[in-house]
Amino acid sequence: MAGRHLLAGCAALVLLACEPARPPPPLPLDSPAPAAISAAIAELPAPYSSGDYLKGRRVFLRCRGCHLIKEGAGDRVGPNLYGVYGRAAGSVAGFAYSPAMLNANRIWDAPTLDAFLTNPRVDLPGTRMGFIGLRTEAERRDLIAFLRVESAR
Ligand code: HEC
Repeated sequence: MAGRHLLAGCAALVLLACEPARPPPPLPLDSPAPAAISAAIAELPAPYSSGDYLKGRRVFLRCRGCHLIKEGAGDRVGPNLYGVYGRAAGSVAGFAYSPAMLNANRIWDAPTLDAFLTNPRVDLPGTRMGFIGLRTEAERRDLIAFLRVESAR
């Protein structure tokens, strides 16, 4: 009797041990290829290089009311963010930026985006971006990874 229980227990253990690692959730159809995603994120400095594209994409839902991030898709309340990574602040032609943004004199990269997105009005007094900021470090890390990928398409 005890032997049978033992056997059943062992079988369960083996099954558990053999269960394959859970596959990552599928990417939405309009995402770049997984290799392109990893390559773009790998170029970021730590800790952004461990950012999660899919999670960042979810954080971006909070930006989407004001920003599109598709080439040629135009501006909303905020400028189009296509290619934002690596470009100069305030440089989308035809967008009515605040004087603060026009004079910001910075390139958007991981550290400058991180500081701005943490608390836009503290980082850039006078900005017209009406967004409270993202206080959670992991959210900013994932979002910056997402922005990097979308900028590199
Ligand atoms: C309520 C609308 C609104 C929301 C929400 C918002 N933004 Fe903005 N954003 C703006 C506006 C307006 C500007 C232009 C600010 C200025 O000129 O001072 C801007 C500017 C920016 C810029 C500078 C762009 C450039 O061309 O220099 C970045 C980067 C940016 N936003 C990222 C984000 C991200 C990422 C989020 C989501 C976490 C977000 N924004 C949420 C309205 C918004």
